[in-house]
Amino acid sequence: MMAAPLLSVRNLTVQFKTDEGLITTVDNVSFDIAAGEVLGLVGESGSGKSVTAKALMKLNAGNTVYGPESSITLNLDDGPIDILSLQKAKDLKIVRGGAISMIFQEPMASFAPAISIGDQMVEQLLLHSSMNKKEARELSIEMLDRVGISDASKRIDQYAFEFSGGMRQRAMIAMALSTKPKLLIADEPTTALDVTIQAQVIDLMKDLIGEFGMAILFITHDLGVIAQTADRVAVMYLGRVMETGSVREVIRTPAHPYTQGLLNALPKLDHLDEPLTPVPGDIPSPLERPGGCVFHTRCPKFIPGTCDTARPGEVSVSASHRAACVAVEPVLEAVS
Ligand SMILES: Nc1ncnc2c1ncn2[C@@H]1O[C@H](COP(=O)(O)OP(=O)(O)OP(=O)(O)O)[C@@H](O)[C@H]1O
Ligand SMILES: [Mg+2]
Repeated sequence: MMAAPLLSVRNLTVQFKTDEGLITTVDNVSFDIAAGEVLGLVGESGSGKSVTAKALMKLNAGNTVYGPESSITLNLDDGPIDILSLQKAKDLKIVRGGAISMIFQEPMASFAPAISIGDQMVEQLLLHSSMNKKEARELSIEMLDRVGISDASKRIDQYAFEFSGGMRQRAMIAMALSTKPKLLIADEPTTALDVTIQAQVIDLMKDLIGEFGMAILFITHDLGVIAQTADRVAVMYLGRVMETGSVREVIRTPAHPYTQGLLNALPKLDHLDEPLTPVPGDIPSPLERPGGCVFHTRCPKFIPGTCDTARPGEVSVSASHRAACVAVEPVLEAVS
């Protein structure tokens, strides 16, 4: 029997009640993350990446409606947890800083300004472990040291505003990892940093992944960052997964016209003088989601009468590579 994946997301649909009506921002999304695996989630702004990530911690706002078919299962050693059915604060704790931890794009937002970094790290550990205060402080210093903050035993008593952007990002990583999560969600963890610091933080995360053996959902709109960090990638557009596969296959032989467009938009190091080819057109508003394939209004391979009427099923490009597009040639028939 194959071991169950650490995380299984099935038919995840997330809608929000708004003044304009019910809007769909995640539409029937399914994916797995294996223990120790890094899954990259990539897509343009507004494609539903953060909404998907927050669903894993049941953190979406009060106006959220999860679809009746949606399920998110976290398979821990003591048995499976059905995340969307969690209600009580003591149960939600497991997916909010316990077995699942999250680091955000803007670390200033995840540290309270008037409480020292150390007190916040200690509080997090007291909440999620059986440590006492002294042990929690010792581990926090060790973690700060581990992420490269020098003089950690002094700096731990400083406040977020006393840290540089890169240091805050490191401290947030230290805090998220101190509880030894099985799954770390990194939502655009490097976008607010300058390029040099970005590379350092990515290197640091790669080291820690190896050392702690945790799985990561790495969210970014940058396919270049995915290429450096992830094992597999899922490409999202307007709430749908367009393509999934190993990073190598998706980046070398993208099958979906949307992924092909995203890759064409990347600057090529050896042709920096060539103009970029962005995916033409604007992303439609979630209030006006196109019928059929959600990408058909921008797709260079649009087939009238087909792409605007029926939602394309997933086609297997290889055993480890799938795309939801009628223009894709199946290399391997899906095993039924
Ligand atoms: N509570 C909410 N109520 C209404 N709409 C929401 C709510 N939360 C998110 N949305 C909408 O859901 C859509 C997807 O948002 P999401 O934050 O997941 O995008 P994203 O892919 O993370 O984009 P970015 O790259 O900009 O972070 C957006 O149109 C957003 O405005
Ligand atoms: Mg986001």
